Amino acid sequence: MYHSLSPGPFVGEWIVFIMTVDTQKIVKSIELAAAGAVSADSLMVETVALLQRERPHYNWVGIYLLEKDVLILGPFVGKPTPHTRIPLHQGICGAAASTGRTVIVGDVNADPRYLACSLETRSEIVVPITRHGQVLGEIDIDSDIPAAFTEDDRSLLEKVAEILAQRLHIEKTGTKPILVAAGILKDGDRVLICQRHHSDAYGMQWEFPGGKVETNEDLKESLRRELAEELSIDATVGDEVFRLRHRYPDRYVEVVFFSVPSYLGTITNRVFEAIEWTPLARLPLYEFLEADRKLVNRMARGEIV
Ligand code: SME
Repeated sequence: MYHSLSPGPFVGEWIVFIMTVDTQKIVKSIELAAAGAVSADSLMVETVALLQRERPHYNWVGIYLLEKDVLILGPFVGKPTPHTRIPLHQGICGAAASTGRTVIVGDVNADPRYLACSLETRSEIVVPITRHGQVLGEIDIDSDIPAAFTEDDRSLLEKVAEILAQRLHIEKTGTKPILVAAGILKDGDRVLICQRHHSDAYGMQWEFPGGKVETNEDLKESLRRELAEELSIDATVGDEVFRLRHRYPDRYVEVVFFSVPSYLGTITNRVFEAIEWTPLARLPLYEFLEADRKLVNRMARGEIV
């Protein structure tokens, strides 16, 4: 099976790398494991074990998952490592995750980026797990043999990363929505709306202030925290006024909207591109996040709040 084209050692020369039969067999096994796995987590556990079993010179095999700007170590086989959390700008792991490209290091001791895991390690390969251009995590493998990783390993692991990405993506956007609390602040017939920062996902679209509810956090408490962080106010969170679920291509959310009858302090924009007090009737003129559009239309018609 033709898998990748890479520049050869001579100018103008291209080498076609062919996945060996042995490699194809490993890919098949991992595809089978993916079909049968009950969760992304159990698939990752099986994957690291299978890779080490099939390739004994893969002395340490682990999977890191990206959370915000930090790589968090998930399932691994081999000796425990001190590097269970790696910031995006550190190590060979950080280099692969921040560029979204595979990194192969033939001699780790000659690479200034290298974060040592064990004294025996001589070479390393790190393969990002990406979906729709977004880095979800990476497969990291150390070998005690110098220059242990070839283009065949790259082909194998990039394929494995693809299988894991699919499964992680399904889990991320799957049946359990991400819980979000949002606030409706009113002043007469005007309501406070916020434009997402241009550098954020869905940048420049409008929304209501609020954000993701952290694990074990109470919904109203979470909204109070978000309103303090985003707008510098100490808010009183009132009743729930509306609740919706929406599936974006990259996330599934449940948004709970609360009235905010009063607050202390002066509203100050700390994170948005812009904020505006706008008359309810004008709400449909703004490009709102897809999830909010039904709510906004109903608010404009005076049906809610
Ligand atoms: N060597 C990695 C750190 C992780 S350990 O290999 C498990 C790096 O330089 O980023």
